[in-house]
Amino acid sequence: MRKTSIMFDRDFAIGATDPRLFGAFVEHLGRCVYGGIYEPGHPSADAKGFRRDVLDLVKELRPTIIRYPGGNFVSGYNWEDGVGPKDKRPKRLDLAWFSTEPNTFGTNEFMDWCKTANVEAMMAVNLGTRGGDAARNLVEYCNHAGGTYWSDLRKSHGWPQPHNVKFWCLGNEMDGPWQMEHKTATEYGRIAAEAAKMMKWVDPTLTLAACGSTARNMPTYGRWDDEVLEHTFELIDFVSLHTYLNNYAGDTAAFLASPDVLDYFIDEVVAIADAVAARRRAHKRLMLTLDEWNVWYRTRRKRADRVKEGWPIAPAILEEIYTMEDALAFGGACICLLNHADRVKAACLAQLVNVIAPIMTETGGPAWRQTIFWPFAQMSRLGRGSVLKAKVISDTYRASYYDPRGSEDHHFPVEAAYLKTAVVADVAGGVSLFLLNRDLQQEMRVTVDARNFGRLSVKEATQLHHVDLKAINDKEVPMRVKPERLDHVEVGAGGLAMTLLPASWNVIRLEP
Ligand code: AHR
Repeated sequence: MRKTSIMFDRDFAIGATDPRLFGAFVEHLGRCVYGGIYEPGHPSADAKGFRRDVLDLVKELRPTIIRYPGGNFVSGYNWEDGVGPKDKRPKRLDLAWFSTEPNTFGTNEFMDWCKTANVEAMMAVNLGTRGGDAARNLVEYCNHAGGTYWSDLRKSHGWPQPHNVKFWCLGNEMDGPWQMEHKTATEYGRIAAEAAKMMKWVDPTLTLAACGSTARNMPTYGRWDDEVLEHTFELIDFVSLHTYLNNYAGDTAAFLASPDVLDYFIDEVVAIADAVAARRRAHKRLMLTLDEWNVWYRTRRKRADRVKEGWPIAPAILEEIYTMEDALAFGGACICLLNHADRVKAACLAQLVNVIAPIMTETGGPAWRQTIFWPFAQMSRLGRGSVLKAKVISDTYRASYYDPRGSEDHHFPVEAAYLKTAVVADVAGGVSLFLLNRDLQQEMRVTVDARNFGRLSVKEATQLHHVDLKAINDKEVPMRVKPERLDHVEVGAGGLAMTLLPASWNVIRLEP
């Protein structure tokens, strides 16, 4: 049995979690929109064609904000194609995913869906094939009350009230050669600054995010972020980063250590943003938006494969089937997000339905929860509050994490503690512990010193574990992997102790 301990104090906090930390992402990609959130004719569909079975699972998952409409898709998107009478909307070739986009779902349908799902909308604008002009028109269409061409067009389309979208992404992954009209940092920095300026002239209340580096191993990593922020610092509030964890190497220990590489990535982007501020002697601090994150590696596709398939509408692509092991790495990323609550103020699980998603559907059939659904739902439900600084004493292990995305530098060395944890206190005096046991063989004894909390009692204690790390949930057995009760959490005055199974994700909720 491995021995570990955790100490925290109610008065020592990292920062408060922003509700936008618990966001997700819907892209026009595969069956995320069509056959995912929107499927007119499905037995559960409402009058607008929104799948109610999916909405029920979304409500259980509890995302707070949803990024839309891409992703790579947005870099070729004409937003005007997706508004107005559906029979007049054009079908277009989507060069991001080599599909045909029918445009029967667009901005207004998305806003309606967000209302029904009770989530905030986060919009991305096309700074690939388009630029500041299309972006400022979209802001006018969405947010201006009326009396102008674009706002009156929205009204004539049947949406008299403005949508009041606050959070906007200035393009997507513009440092990636796979992007339509990929740009250099100078080109993107200038376009992002001009678009931001005009969008804020239309609506000064906007919150804007510029594209930082797509991944830590991009060849332009660091230099890209520095230059883009030099151009945009005064105009933006957030810098974005993306992360997809993988187990290409079949090295589970390294895979479970990969959330620590995400910790390094976040710390480095914070350092760059603060260096740009320091050069200006500015007190302003940019926040980070991890506006795409997940595990993704089995269903990555080469452009050449896509071409062979023709131009289908809503093909079943990127439908990653998540394992127990994926849920553990994913849980590690949840802990990483919580522990950066001071600077990561928005994040989007990519994506929501079918496409690298916590929710799967069969077109015309049922919907179910993937393994990664559980850590996210628990984080969103119990992660609201003040994240405490936790002193963890745990043995560590060394790993080499392989990440082929973006450049030649494929192996990241990492030294990971067997126990990865986040602790979140709330105003009512309760506290939630998120505990990942990364030891693949041994049980773990955890002793917790909870200072300044007084006597607590266990309100909820669960563990996510399966003897088979490759176990999945599917249509036939949708609850094969699910949280079970964690017994024998021993609570004493000012502390607690418990034993965790090897390779397990555990959540404990304590209340006074
Ligand atoms: O989420 C899938 C894709 O991953 C997005 O379209 C893109 O931004 C990223 O490369």
